[in-house]
Amino acid sequence: MCKKMNTINNNFRIFQTGLENKQSIIFIHGFPFDHRMWDRQMDYFGRDYHCICYDIRGLGQSPSDEGQMTIESFVDDLFDLIEKLNLIHPVLCGLSMGGYISLRAIERDEDKFCGLILCDTKAEADNNEGKLNRAKGIKEINLNGVENFAGNFVLKCFSDNFIKYHRNDYEEVLNRAKSSDPTGVKACLLAMAARTDTTDYLPKIKIPVLLLCGELDRLTPPDIMMTMGDKINNSTFVLIPEAGHVSSVENPKHFNYEIERFLKEI
Ligand code: MLT
Repeated sequence: MCKKMNTINNNFRIFQTGLENKQSIIFIHGFPFDHRMWDRQMDYFGRDYHCICYDIRGLGQSPSDEGQMTIESFVDDLFDLIEKLNLIHPVLCGLSMGGYISLRAIERDEDKFCGLILCDTKAEADNNEGKLNRAKGIKEINLNGVENFAGNFVLKCFSDNFIKYHRNDYEEVLNRAKSSDPTGVKACLLAMAARTDTTDYLPKIKIPVLLLCGELDRLTPPDIMMTMGDKINNSTFVLIPEAGHVSSVENPKHFNYEIERFLKEI
C-alpha cells in the first residue's frame, strides 16, 4: 500500500495509510530504526484503520534538532502530530524506544488516547550500567563512526533464525541503521539515558493495554514485560513466537493478528 508522506514542524516526517475517518493508530519505532519498521503494519491495518507512523527526530528522514532531544521533546512531537492531524483518541503503539515515548505520553496525558500497545519495551529508566553503556556507544561512534555501532547493536536486536533465514530483510534493516545520521543516533542515546522511570504510573493506567514481546527478545526479555503487565490493571500480555526484539518485523503475521484482536475489543 502506498504511504502518504508529509512534513510538519521543521522537517518532522510523517507517513499515513488508510482512511482519515477511521479509528487512528500511531506507530512509534525503536532505536536505531525508522518508520519502515512498520511497513507490514501500515499495509495491513491501512485497510480498516487510519495508520500513522513517523521518523523520530534524529533517525530516518527527520533531522535531529541540533542533537538536543529528550524523551520529553519526542512526546511534544507526538502531541503536535495529534493536534495537526486532528486525531481523536488514537491508539498508541510503541516498540522499545517507541514504547518509552508512549509510556511517557500516557503519563503526561492519558485522556488523549483510547488504547496502548507496548512492544518489546520497559518502564524502568536506565540504571548506572545502562547509562555507562550509552556513554560507551557515543564514544564508539565518535571514534569509529556510526556503522560499527549500528552493526553491533542491530545484531543483538534480531533472533539468530531471523538473521539466518531472512538474510535480505535483515541486511536491509541493518544497512539503513548503518547509514543513520551519527548526531541523531548519539542524541537518541542521550535521550534514552536521561529518560524518567514510568513504573509508578503503570497501576494508574485506565485505558486497555496490550503487551507484545518476542519470545527470543534478548534486550527486553519476556519476564520484564510480564512483570510490567502485572502492574497494569486492564492489560493482556502475549508472547510473539519465533521473534526477537523487533517482533513487528520478525513475525508480522502473528504480531498483526494479536493487534487486530485487541483493536476489535476496545
Ligand atoms: C530500541 O530497540 O529502541 C532499543 O533497544 C532501546 C534501548 O536501547 O533501550
